[in-house]
Amino acid sequence: MMFFSRLAGALIPAMAFLSCLRPESWEPCVEVVPNITYQCMELNLYKIPDNIPSSTKNLDLSFNPLGHLGSHSFYSFSELQVLDLSRCEIQAIEENAFQNLNHLSTLILTGNPLRSLALGAFSGLPSLQKLVAVETNLASLEDLPIGHLESLKELNVAHNLIHSFKLPEYFSNLLNLERLDLSNNHIQNISHKDLQVLHRVPSRNLSLDLSLNPIDFIQPGSFKGIRLRELTLRSNFDSLSVMKTCIQNLAGLEVHRLVLGEFKNERYIKDIDQSALEGLCNLTIEEFRLAYLDDSLQGAELLHCLENVSAISLVSLDLSHLKSLCNNFKWKSLELIDCKFEQFPILELFSLKRFIFTANRGGNTFIKVKLPDLEYLDLSKNGLSYTGCCSHTDLGTTRLTHLDMSFNGIITMTSNFLGLEQLKHLDFQHSSLKQMSDFSVFLPLRNLLYLDLSYTHTQVAFHGIFDGLVSLQVLKMAGNSFQDNILPDVFKEMTNLTFLDLSDCQLEQVSQKAFNTLSRLQLLNMSHNNLVSLDVLPYKPLQSLQVLDFSFNRIVALRKQELQDFPRSLAFLNLTQNEFVCVCEHQSFLQWVKDQRQLLVKAENMVCAMPLDMKGMSVLSFRNTTCQMNKTVISVSVVIVLMVSVVVVLVYKFYFHLMLLAGCKKYGTGESTYDAFVIYSSQDEDWVRNELVKNLEEGVPHFQLCLHYRDFIPGVAIAANIIQEGFHKSRKVIVVVSKHFIQSRWCIFEYEIAQTWQFLSSRAGIIFIVLQKVEKSLLRQQVDLYCLLNRNTYLEWEDNALGRHIFWRRLRKALLDGKPWSPEAAAEPQAPSRKQQLLPEKK
Ligand SMILES: *[C@@H]1O[C@H](CO)[C@@H](O)[C@H](O)[C@H]1NC(C)=O
Ligand SMILES: *[C@@H]1O[C@H](CO)[C@@H](O)[C@H](O)[C@H]1NC(C)=O
Ligand SMILES: *[C@@H]1O[C@H](CO)[C@@H](O)[C@H](O)[C@H]1NC(C)=O
Ligand SMILES: *[C@@H]1O[C@H](CO)[C@@H](O)[C@H](O)[C@H]1NC(C)=O
Ligand SMILES: *[C@@H]1O[C@H](CO)[C@@H](O)[C@H](O)[C@H]1NC(C)=O
Ligand SMILES: *[C@@H]1O[C@H](CO)[C@@H](O)[C@H](O)[C@H]1NC(C)=O
Ligand SMILES: *[C@@H]1O[C@H](CO)[C@@H](O)[C@H](O)[C@H]1NC(C)=O
Ligand SMILES: *[C@@H]1O[C@H](CO)[C@@H](O)[C@H](O)[C@H]1NC(C)=O
Ligand SMILES: *[C@@H]1O[C@H](CO)[C@@H](O)[C@H](O)[C@H]1NC(C)=O
Repeated sequence: MMFFSRLAGALIPAMAFLSCLRPESWEPCVEVVPNITYQCMELNLYKIPDNIPSSTKNLDLSFNPLGHLGSHSFYSFSELQVLDLSRCEIQAIEENAFQNLNHLSTLILTGNPLRSLALGAFSGLPSLQKLVAVETNLASLEDLPIGHLESLKELNVAHNLIHSFKLPEYFSNLLNLERLDLSNNHIQNISHKDLQVLHRVPSRNLSLDLSLNPIDFIQPGSFKGIRLRELTLRSNFDSLSVMKTCIQNLAGLEVHRLVLGEFKNERYIKDIDQSALEGLCNLTIEEFRLAYLDDSLQGAELLHCLENVSAISLVSLDLSHLKSLCNNFKWKSLELIDCKFEQFPILELFSLKRFIFTANRGGNTFIKVKLPDLEYLDLSKNGLSYTGCCSHTDLGTTRLTHLDMSFNGIITMTSNFLGLEQLKHLDFQHSSLKQMSDFSVFLPLRNLLYLDLSYTHTQVAFHGIFDGLVSLQVLKMAGNSFQDNILPDVFKEMTNLTFLDLSDCQLEQVSQKAFNTLSRLQLLNMSHNNLVSLDVLPYKPLQSLQVLDFSFNRIVALRKQELQDFPRSLAFLNLTQNEFVCVCEHQSFLQWVKDQRQLLVKAENMVCAMPLDMKGMSVLSFRNTTCQMNKTVISVSVVIVLMVSVVVVLVYKFYFHLMLLAGCKKYGTGESTYDAFVIYSSQDEDWVRNELVKNLEEGVPHFQLCLHYRDFIPGVAIAANIIQEGFHKSRKVIVVVSKHFIQSRWCIFEYEIAQTWQFLSSRAGIIFIVLQKVEKSLLRQQVDLYCLLNRNTYLEWEDNALGRHIFWRRLRKALLDGKPWSPEAAAEPQAPSRKQQLLPEKK
């Protein structure tokens, strides 16, 4: 019994444990930052997963069918700061659902069809600053139990079903509220009592967005005495007259920024006249913005109530007929964005400090302006052309610090920023600059910090192009070119440069001194060039360099030297998209890549371009073990090839010797047919026939000589004849040494074979006959022969009676040596003169 209960006691928790594990582990949340940020978006979760660490600060549970939030749903996540519950099909939030979230600052409930909100649904949440309840079927602000959220700064209840603009009493508690977004609701009327709470608790810094509510009535005086940070009324009025009366009824409002107009796709108002904005005269406005009105606005009179406004912004309006803005407007900042100007407006605004005129396309030509206070000028994205850039006379100011002429047409540089010495920021990117490289364009700009010349079709030929830019910190030169595609020494004076972009400049080479002065440079972008090597020398002076982007070049590999000489400060080196050749020759570089994955950006994206079998594969996948193997394979095969060739050469050279060796066995034991094989030069044939043959073959004892003119078998290869007939069938070899013999290669060859044969059969068989005195020098050419003659005895032919007598006697004796006894030879009496046998004489 005890046993069974124990078993059950062990099994039940184990099974419970397993059943708990399963639903958690199959769809894990994405760990964006460990222990901090988890994303569990769209995981079909029905409940809050409990495998999320309690230290989590950011939790995204959006798009899960949670259905409802019970109390203390998030009790274990006391560190949560941001909680996203967008579109979780939440219909009910129970009492204390967010209890214990003492640090939660952002709660997002967008897209939940809330039906029941318990009174204490949002209790706790002492740190909540932002509550987003967009699209939650909210019918009234009163329904939101948020009166206790004193730290709330932003309440977004856009896109709901709210009809009444009545701000509930609890707003008097929300003293920190800065933004209330009520856009896209159903508010039609605004009355004085709706704003009562704002009247009672004034000095607010509230921004109010009422856009996309179908407002048709505002009670006069409702806003009187109220101060708002911002009021936005876009696409609220369905006609010009409603708009006019509503604006008039805003009288008495003090607003820092007023935004009027419509949306691109929500336009109702037609036939705008000059009185449209008349009501604004009774408002106190600091900044004014007007956006997306369809009708063409005829003149500056429309804006006469805004003459004292400090900042005005006109966005996406039809100002094609607006010729000039030269009233006594006190504007300090003017933005004209995406307005359909037919030509550049005539501007005489004496207090203007900031002028932004962008995205006003229409083939404009820049016209001189008179803006004596102007400090900030943005003329980007207009397709403007400018024939005489740039000097203070064109802009009517000497105070300019910021000039943006980017994304325009052709800008011709004719003067070098005379009178614009205050400039700090200059941007010409994506405009076509002409005459840039003719003179030191920027010479007076000693205060300039930022210069963008990217993609300006600039070809740098003149080395003084950047002279004067002593303070420059950022230089962007991407998409330009340099003469001969070599980066010259043009940054001489820029000792404070920290950012240099030279990407996409077709560079093939960098001059050694190019970066000599740039000891403060932190980022250098050399990507998208045609650099074949990273010659480190020019980069050595860059003592502060942190980021070096060398991607998209043609680097095959780095040399060993280069690997060591990078500036120590370097933290990011981007070598992706080069043409690495992953072969053993670059082994040390490829190993270095593996070792430097900290330094290298996306090392796993560095791919091989060669060899073909590695193409497209990561450099990291290169294995240098194969190199070791290759090395041994290569050395072994080299040795084998060498040996084979030596053998081949030897076989070729000693082919006959080998045949001899083979033949030796065959004939070695057989009886000899001839007494001697005679080796001689054909030039000495007369002597051989007339003397040698006559004396030896016809004399007694009778000797049988082997003579190739006579005894070689016709049709058999000479070499075979020599071996078979000459050597194997002869007991001795007679070598007739003469001048001709030594000069004849053939004889020497026969003789060499004879030597080998003699050696093989070890029958001391060679008899030398020196036919005529041979000069020593000639003899020495045949070293072996010379030595042999020196070492051995030889017979010297002397053409006189006594000499001949001695010669033949000695020769016969030598030939008789080893001759088998033959009865025929013994029977025949020898000629008395030839019978005497002398010992061979030693030379
Ligand atoms: C996450 O938290 C667990 C438990 O508190 C701790 O053991 C672990 O080291 C933490 N991980 C990181 C990356 O901080
Ligand atoms: C708004 O006010 C007008 C005029 O006072 C009134 O006729 C209308 O019924 C009101 N509409 C709503 C929704 O309160
Ligand atoms: C008022 O609110 C705006 C944001 O709407 C904020 O930038 C500004 O600092 C606030 N001013 C004060 C005085 O709190
Ligand atoms: C300004 O308000 C006054 C009364 O408060 C009114 O008489 C005047 O017509 C209003 N001006 C404009 C331009 O609406
Ligand atoms: C602008 O200010 C001037 C003087 O400060 C004043 O006379 C004028 O009425 C003001 N204009 C508007 C539209 O408020
Ligand atoms: C360079 O920067 C340093 C410190 O940031 C500054 O003191 C120095 O004046 C600058 N040099 C030039 C020529 O602007
Ligand atoms: C370098 O320039 C290229 C494009 O020209 C860009 O994609 C890259 O992000 C830049 N690198 C750095 C480090 O800014
Ligand atoms: C190279 O790496 C740097 C540093 O991470 C990055 O900023 C840059 O965008 C990369 N370059 C390209 C062309 O992607
Ligand atoms: C690869 O070669 C490097 C030297 O070039 C050596 O240090 C390293 O151990 C080698 N790795 C392997 C896996 O052989």
